[in-house]
Amino acid sequence: MHAHVCALLFAATRATARVAPYSRLNPAELGVDVVKRGKEQAPAADRWAAMEGAPDAAGSLARPTNAWWTNFVLGQGPSELENANGFAIPYVLWPAKRGISAGLPFVLAQANQIENGFDSTISFVTLGASDVRTGHRVARSDALSVSLEWEGTAAAPTAHAGAGGAGPHAHAPIVRGSPYLTMEYRGTTPFFDSAQSLDPQVGFAVDGEPGVCPGKFRGRRFEFVLVETDETWVVWSSHEVEVGCQTDGALLQAAAPLSDGVWRAALTNNCTLGRSAHHCRKSPPADPEPPIFADILEAHAVTYPISAEVDLHAAGDDAAVRIRWGTRTMGDGSNGGRGKPAPALLMSAMEHHRRMGLCGGAGGKAEMVDGVYQRNMNGGLSLVIANE
Ligand SMILES: *[C@@H]1O[C@H](CO)[C@@H](O)[C@H](O)[C@H]1NC(C)=O
Repeated sequence: MHAHVCALLFAATRATARVAPYSRLNPAELGVDVVKRGKEQAPAADRWAAMEGAPDAAGSLARPTNAWWTNFVLGQGPSELENANGFAIPYVLWPAKRGISAGLPFVLAQANQIENGFDSTISFVTLGASDVRTGHRVARSDALSVSLEWEGTAAAPTAHAGAGGAGPHAHAPIVRGSPYLTMEYRGTTPFFDSAQSLDPQVGFAVDGEPGVCPGKFRGRRFEFVLVETDETWVVWSSHEVEVGCQTDGALLQAAAPLSDGVWRAALTNNCTLGRSAHHCRKSPPADPEPPIFADILEAHAVTYPISAEVDLHAAGDDAAVRIRWGTRTMGDGSNGGRGKPAPALLMSAMEHHRRMGLCGGAGGKAEMVDGVYQRNMNGGLSLVIANE
């Protein structure tokens, strides 16, 4: 079990007289499972796509340090990659060999410490591409997003130009606050998997129809109920695809590369059958919870964030924070309904963001969704509909 301690994203909106210093205790002395890195402490030079080496407006070639995602580009070996995690909100994410892994945090509280726990052994999922080289690179980044890219192994380069070059690749825009995992495929083949087992009774559905794994299916919406975490995950594909599924560990594998497509995945229920140790109302066996967030996640799945613009504005004792998300829409449009405008972005906000008025306050255009989508050490996290 690897624990991850998260940092606050925003400072207080109102300058306070005197703030006590954060604890100076060494987490290791408190028994926190700290990461020991055997090798270099700085990202390797080959962790950056070429365009990241372009000078910025000030002519600087400096790369971001101490970003919330810096861990993603530290470490090389498999166990170091597992420790390369960051709290992307709402999921704890870490790069896998050929994709991005996600675990749901749960609160670990003791007398002298509180942390977001997660499990990188079994209780996570991975969205990736099966025909890419291991080793991800940063293609671009800003204050709230980072895009990772994997180079395809297909011999013939395709005609599709991507952010990192003209060859086949997979590209993951990771934007803090997105309740979905997103991967763009250019001549590469999607998969979604987990070390967990599919529930044998209700485990798998394709476009709303129950399916039996192992098997082959065609569709664009795939639903998984996982045994160990009791989580339901939905995978949306921009295009209808042929897939094979396996049950133990759960695997959804596309049969062919997507020339230009997107897969998205989101957790729709974390107490599906009443057996989650962390997220049901009482210890298992508990009552199953209805999937109250499934419809809203479905309705907004086609619009995804790729970047963020953050404006900070200070006047006297007050500070205004404005976030504008850069977006894309996946697929040929038929997923969202032809002719209809793309739905607004669905993001998430932590309790302290709401209290600071970051969501919908002072001219903001955000619409809050009722209910707590996820609990972490900062409190209840809610879904928010907003492009800014
Ligand atoms: C996940 O679990 C928390 C309780 O820990 C609950 O409040 C929340 O609604 C659940 N979210 C989903 C998507 O099921």
